[in-house]
Amino acid sequence: MSDQAGDRLKAEFNQWALAGKGESMARHHRAIAERTLERMKIATGDRVLDLGCGSGWACRMLAPAVGPRGLVVGVDISDEMIREAQQNPENPPNTRFLCSPAEHIPWAPDFFTHVLSVESFYYYEDQRVVLDELKRLLIPDGKIFLLICLFTESPGSREWVERLQVPVHVRSAKEYKQLLTDAGWRSVAVERFTPAPGDDDPHAHALLITARK
Ligand SMILES: C[S@@+](CC[C@H](N)C(=O)[O-])C[C@H]1O[C@@H](n2cnc3c(N)ncnc32)[C@H](O)[C@@H]1O
Repeated sequence: MSDQAGDRLKAEFNQWALAGKGESMARHHRAIAERTLERMKIATGDRVLDLGCGSGWACRMLAPAVGPRGLVVGVDISDEMIREAQQNPENPPNTRFLCSPAEHIPWAPDFFTHVLSVESFYYYEDQRVVLDELKRLLIPDGKIFLLICLFTESPGSREWVERLQVPVHVRSAKEYKQLLTDAGWRSVAVERFTPAPGDDDPHAHALLITARK
C-alpha cells in the first residue's frame, strides 16, 4: 500500500473514531458477526486475528470462545480506533490490540488459527497483498472469514460508495471467489446473508467469504 493511501485511511477512520462511529458500527455489524461466529467453530486455546477491528467489540465477543489459554488480537490502521479499543474497561485478559496496516502486521508467522474481518476488506488498496500476509500469519489449514456489506449485488452499494471519502473495491461474489482462488486459498466459499423480514438495516445484506490456507 502506498504511504498516501495508508495516511488517507488512517485520517478517515481516526475521524470516524472521534465521531463515535466505533460503537455505532458495533450495533450495525453484531448480528452478521454472530452468524459468522457460529460458522467459525472456535475451540478453547484458538488464536484469532480480528483484522480491521475498529473499537474492538468483536474481539470482546470472541474472547470467551477461545478461553484463557487462547488469544484474540485486534489490528487496525487507525490509532484512534486502537486507543478506543485498548481503553475499553471490559477487555478480557486474553485480548490484545495493535495499530498496523493489514498489509504488514508485525506478528510471528504460523500463529493464528482463524482470521475474522468485519466490514474492512474492501478498503484494502491491494487485497492480494493482504491475502498473502494472512497466509503468512495463519497456521497450516488455518481459516479466514471475511465479512463484507459492500459488494456488487448489495442493494444501495452505489450510493454508499458515493458517500465514502476513501476509495473502495466493489466486487461481486463471483469475483471474490476468483480472487481468493487465484491467490492459492483452498475450500473457497461465498455465502450471502440476507435480512430477516422487516429488517431494513442495509448491513443485514452481507457476503461471508471463507477459505482455508
Ligand atoms: C467500517 S470499519 C469496521 C470496523 C470493525 N470491524 C467493526 O465492524 O466495527 C473498517 C475498519 O477497517 C480499518 N482499516 C481500513 N483499512 C485498513 C488497512 N489497510 N489496514 C488495517 N485496518 C484498516 C479502519 O481503520 C476501520 O476501523
